[in-house]
Amino acid sequence: MNDSTSVSLELSGYSVKHLVRENAAILQILYEQCKEFALLTDGEPPSPTAARDEFDAVPENKTTQDKYIFGLFDSRNVLLGMIESIRHYPDNKTWWLGLMMLAPEQRGKGLGSQFYKGFERWVSTHGVKQVSLSVIEANEQGLWFWEKMGFEVIRKTPPRQFGVKTHELYVMSRTID
Ligand SMILES: CC(C)(COP(=O)(O)OP(=O)(O)OC[C@H]1O[C@@H](n2cnc3c(N)ncnc32)[C@H](O)[C@@H]1OP(=O)(O)O)[C@@H](O)C(=O)NCCC(=O)NCCS
Repeated sequence: MNDSTSVSLELSGYSVKHLVRENAAILQILYEQCKEFALLTDGEPPSPTAARDEFDAVPENKTTQDKYIFGLFDSRNVLLGMIESIRHYPDNKTWWLGLMMLAPEQRGKGLGSQFYKGFERWVSTHGVKQVSLSVIEANEQGLWFWEKMGFEVIRKTPPRQFGVKTHELYVMSRTID
């Protein structure tokens, strides 16, 4: 775990760390806690290698050097949430947020919005003007959350296969002030 990330939170008692492959075991625990999200998305529970695979999964023309996974920790150093992202994707002015998840018992109390805002402040120091992401149509709560964070729907994609499910996606973007 690299403690040198400068993602800062306006919250005491919590910290954000840059996760590296050696942290796959603790990230896997979070994936399993978020099993309902895997069922919603893929129609199946997270695979036993879901966290390890996350460090390797990159879009075409990107490398693992472009991937940044951050963990939100409490004061006892327990991982409560994660943000996975790709720098300068799909274009140079954009940072792509691939996934954000909080452990179910940590949701709905403002932690997610503080975590996202800290991430966005960090991204803005890299000369990036926009954050983009996609949300599956079935994830109404996720869509509300991103709208609350100031994202706008740019387009809807044709249906795409996820595990044993098929979803249309909302592609959303937010311009960083
Ligand atoms: C989406 C997620 C990261 C949000 O984190 P969170 O800590 O629960 O969100 P917050 O408590 O900071 O909520 C921020 C705002 O979003 C809104 N919001 C959050 N969850 C909501 C829900 N279930 N229904 C409606 N609005 C919701 C709240 O109204 C809140 O606004 P408020 O501060 O004015 O009350 C978290 O719920 C999660 O991990 N969900 C499962 C995975 C997922 O769907 N990820 C997003 C797709 S990538």
